[in-house]
Amino acid sequence: MSKDAEKRLAGRAAMRYVEDGMIVGVGTGSTVAHFIDALAEHKDRIQGAVSSSEQSTHLLKARGVPVLDLNATGDIPLYVDGADECDAGRCLIKGGGGALTREKIIAAAAAKFVCIIDAGKRVDVLGLFPLPIEVIPMARSYVAREIVKRGGQPVWRDGTVTDNGNWILDVHGWRIQRPAELERDLNQIAGVVTVGLFAQRPADVVLIGAEEMR
Ligand code: A5P
Repeated sequence: MSKDAEKRLAGRAAMRYVEDGMIVGVGTGSTVAHFIDALAEHKDRIQGAVSSSEQSTHLLKARGVPVLDLNATGDIPLYVDGADECDAGRCLIKGGGGALTREKIIAAAAAKFVCIIDAGKRVDVLGLFPLPIEVIPMARSYVAREIVKRGGQPVWRDGTVTDNGNWILDVHGWRIQRPAELERDLNQIAGVVTVGLFAQRPADVVLIGAEEMR
């Protein structure tokens, strides 16, 4: 099966978790685009969506799904999003699409986080995919030096400005054996906005294609 077919299956399978009257958190990326298509087919069943990016907001609005403000909704029951890598503990690397900050906020506010991926994203050890870190622009080289001290090789995603007006460093060369520990450590560096490790709050459910990971 092609990667896109797996993404489509996963996006559609996530509809299992959508219940009538829900407010649904919606992530970002090509897998989520399939989820948005499926969600739009049932838009009359839900109250609306909280979006993690301008890109997803655009897709949702184009399909007539109401987009709600997280400040107004309070905590939400469900968040559906993709990932760049996923380990056996459902810890994730995210942010390949640059939307990691809003994604992390919605994941934190959601009772259940359903992650949708194709099989190529499942890894034993996180880190082959470079770890995205969103930084305040003036802190870019300071944060990069702190990462080098920790054995990583940061590469500035030159030309990318996040939806929050910040920049991204992609860190190569780490084999991340203890993701929650690394996430906690990197969060302490001044100028770091968001680390693309979702380990302190991992996914609750991972759908690889239509299959639930156990
Ligand atoms: C967006 O910032 C990322 O966290 C995405 O969830 C991730 O890049 C997955 O994207 P695809 O579904 O396009 O592979």
